[in-house]
Amino acid sequence: MKATDHNLRDAPERARFREMKKGTAEDWAIIGGEYRQFARGLPDRVLDHLRLLDGDFGGFPVCRLEHSLQTATRAHRDGRDEQYVVMALLHDIGDTLGSYNHPEVAASIIKPFVREELRWICEHHGHFQGYYYFHYLGMDKDAREAFRGHEHFDACAEFCEKYDQAAFDPDYESEPLAFFEPMVRRVMARPLASLYKLEEQAEAAE
Ligand SMILES: [Fe+2]
Ligand SMILES: [Fe+2]
Repeated sequence: MKATDHNLRDAPERARFREMKKGTAEDWAIIGGEYRQFARGLPDRVLDHLRLLDGDFGGFPVCRLEHSLQTATRAHRDGRDEQYVVMALLHDIGDTLGSYNHPEVAASIIKPFVREELRWICEHHGHFQGYYYFHYLGMDKDAREAFRGHEHFDACAEFCEKYDQAAFDPDYESEPLAFFEPMVRRVMARPLASLYKLEEQAEAAE
């Protein structure tokens, strides 16, 4: 397919440059407007992607969506705040595209919206989960010890012990995804910090 075929899709207004270095302020006003609309759809895209885990068992007692719901439900019922619960819900969302580094994928998605402690937990939960099974696969169950002494070590170990490794029970009554949707929308409504300032500026102007 030629690049021009994509241009047949209906976009009301488009930038005129063919190389970015020829871009103008007018071009970027158009792109900025589109970006703000697109960014608002992020929670929907994330929820859609989470649904891809439905029915994906990979040999586990529950599918990856149920595991995600159960992890989040356990965290919520234990009194964790909304950022924490959303992290728990999304911690394995990288499974589909990041088959060899899923914690990093999830951590990158949530990074703009949660405090650093939660991003760190998400990024490192793979090493910490290994404490419960790496030795069955000829690996070092103490791989997490490489991070001993880090300020978030205990928090990550606690996440895995209380919620993640505990969320494989087919008889547990998890909340449905609809229960968590408003939380995802609130947490992802605007970035706490981002390289791209357009969304924050838009919010300020409203
Ligand atoms: Fe995981
Ligand atoms: Fe998990």
